[in-house]
Amino acid sequence: DTTASINGIELPLCIMNASGVLCSTDQELSNLLNSSSGGVVTKSCTSQPRKGNVLPRYFEWNIGSINSMGLPNLGIHFYLDFLEKKKINKPIFLSISGLSTEENYFLIQEANRSSKVTAIELNLSCPNLLGKEDMFGYNFDKISNFIENIFKFNKKPLGIKLPPYFQDVHIKNIALILNQFPIFFITCINSLPNGLFIDANKESVVIRPKKGFGGIGGAIIKPFALANVHKFYTYLRKDISIIGCGGISSGKDIFEHILCGASAVQIGTQFLKEGISVFERLKKELTLILEKKNYSSLNSFKGKLKNI
Ligand code: DHB
Repeated sequence: DTTASINGIELPLCIMNASGVLCSTDQELSNLLNSSSGGVVTKSCTSQPRKGNVLPRYFEWNIGSINSMGLPNLGIHFYLDFLEKKKINKPIFLSISGLSTEENYFLIQEANRSSKVTAIELNLSCPNLLGKEDMFGYNFDKISNFIENIFKFNKKPLGIKLPPYFQDVHIKNIALILNQFPIFFITCINSLPNGLFIDANKESVVIRPKKGFGGIGGAIIKPFALANVHKFYTYLRKDISIIGCGGISSGKDIFEHILCGASAVQIGTQFLKEGISVFERLKKELTLILEKKNYSSLNSFKGKLKNI
C-alpha cells in the first residue's frame, strides 16, 4: 500500500511532482492529472503572469541541477480557471509565491474562493528573484506575524514550502513558530539557494541570470533534504505532515525520506529528466522495497529511523 495521508488529505499514491517542474501550462497540468502522480502541485504563481528570467536559466549535469527561472507563471487566475474546467481526480495543491506579504494575502484569498483547490502550498523559499535577495523562509522575525495574519481569514488546508536550513537551532525556531498555527503540512526542501555550477572548458557560468547563481536540486541535495525532513519530524507537532522533497530518483530515495518522517514526497529534477513515466517507475520500485521488507503501509516505518 503506497497511498498516503497528508493530515487527512488522502493521496492515491505518496509520490507527486514538485512545484516548478512541468506544471505551468494547460498541457503540463493535464498530463499530471492523467498520470499516476498522487497529487498535482501547480507552478508557484503570482497575481499577474510573469515571463521570468532570461534564458538559459536551467542546466543539469549527472548529479544535480541549477535553475534561476524567476517565477515564470501564467498568473493565479489561469490556474484557478484551468481547475474550474477540469474533472479533478486527486488532490490539487495550488502553489503560491507572492512577491510581498500583501500579494500572498491576496493569492490565499483567491485560492479560498475555489472549490477545486484541495490545499495551498505557500512557497516561502523562491531564491531566484532579481533585486529581491531576501527570502521569507529565512526571515525569522517576520514569519510569525505573517502566518498569524493568514489564519485570520484562511479556511483552506495550508502548507508551507520551506528552504533548507543548515543549523539545528534554525529548524527548532521555525518549528516553534509553525507549531502555533493550524498548518496542515510543510514541504521541505526547496532548492539549495545561491549555488554555482560552472563550465571549466568555457571558463564560464552555465545559466545567464544572476551571474550564474541559482537554486541547486537533484541527487546532490538529498543529504540536506533528509536532514531537514528528519529534524522537522522531531520538532513539529505530530499532526503537521511533512512532504519530503529533494534528491529523489529511486524508490530507495523515497523509502529514506519516509524513514526520516515524510508522509509523502515530491519529485523535481528527476521528473524533468525522465518525464511523466517517473511516477509509475518510482511506485514500482517503492512497492518492491515494501514487499521485501514486509511493510504493509508507509506508517509501518514512517519516522522510524534508527540511531547507532
Ligand atoms: C522559482 C524557483 C524556486 O525554487 C521557487 O521556489 C519558486 C520559483 C523560479 O525561479 O521560478
